[in-house]
Amino acid sequence: MLHKSVLLKKSIDMIQPESGKVYLDLTFGGGGHSLEILKRSDPDGVVIAFDKDEDAIARANGSLKKDYPDRFFIVKSDYSQCVNVLRDMKIDGVDGVIMDLGISSFQVEDEKRGFSFLKDGPLDMRMDRDNPLSAYEIVNRWKEDEIYTIIKSYAEERFARRIAKSIVTHRAKKAIKTTKELADIVIDAVPSHFYKKIHPATKTFQAIRIAVNSELENLEKGLKSAIELLKKDGKICVISFHSLEDRIVKHTFRFYKDKGFLMLLNKKPIYADEDEISENIRARSAKMRCAVKLN
Ligand SMILES: C[S@@+](CC[C@H](N)C(=O)[O-])C[C@H]1O[C@@H](n2cnc3c(N)ncnc32)[C@H](O)[C@@H]1O
Repeated sequence: MLHKSVLLKKSIDMIQPESGKVYLDLTFGGGGHSLEILKRSDPDGVVIAFDKDEDAIARANGSLKKDYPDRFFIVKSDYSQCVNVLRDMKIDGVDGVIMDLGISSFQVEDEKRGFSFLKDGPLDMRMDRDNPLSAYEIVNRWKEDEIYTIIKSYAEERFARRIAKSIVTHRAKKAIKTTKELADIVIDAVPSHFYKKIHPATKTFQAIRIAVNSELENLEKGLKSAIELLKKDGKICVISFHSLEDRIVKHTFRFYKDKGFLMLLNKKPIYADEDEISENIRARSAKMRCAVKLN
């Protein structure tokens, strides 16, 4: 099981790593982007990587930290805290930032993490297992209206009301404990002819995952913090996987551009090409936006 980095070459070509400079990889995952930056900033570029999943931290310690002990640093933290973390490390600015949002193949394919409707596992979906909120809490304890609201607003699911109602009806009989139980409830709640191209539970699982991990709030905060940390001429690339993420990236970049702090490196998002998509289905929905700090 390996995570294939999305838009790897295109993103690192944009960042143009150089020796002697400092880079932030805010979403370490399997470390593909970190490794590429380390290679291209040889002999002494530095990468500071973040992830809030302790499995990713263990992977980093077992790989890049061993191979690049003086040039690679891994931090277990939400990336929304990057300003504080770098302040503690006495680093006042960075020359490039990569953010490759969402979850990794390691997370999706591990049924114990409960991210996938295709594998049966506990209803969890936490990237950070210290997070007290899990998918189980949301599905079994939140009010119907709260469940409806996240499914509607985080996934634009047209059958959100029916799904929320059905969840509440089922859990009144017995707690909903597994991903398969939840996926089956969603399948029964939506008209079968409607979902042909995607699994009927795709959107509901996306919405619950976003809520569990406060993904949109953290993205807004993390992105602003990352832009704040960039030095003049430093570049930032953000790869997003759905329209809610991309909207935040687009609006935040535009806000800093209008204030004269950023110049956009691409007006329209950059997509993966057909070759990459044929090798990695995740790349199909990827959109990348890049910018450079002006002052
Ligand atoms: C798509 S993967 C990154 C893959 C990586 N670029 C690679 O090439 O292997 C996203 C990673 O970011 C982490 N992550 C997502 N949101 C985070 C946040 N707010 N703070 C810290 N880590 C986060 C996830 O746990 C996951 O491991």
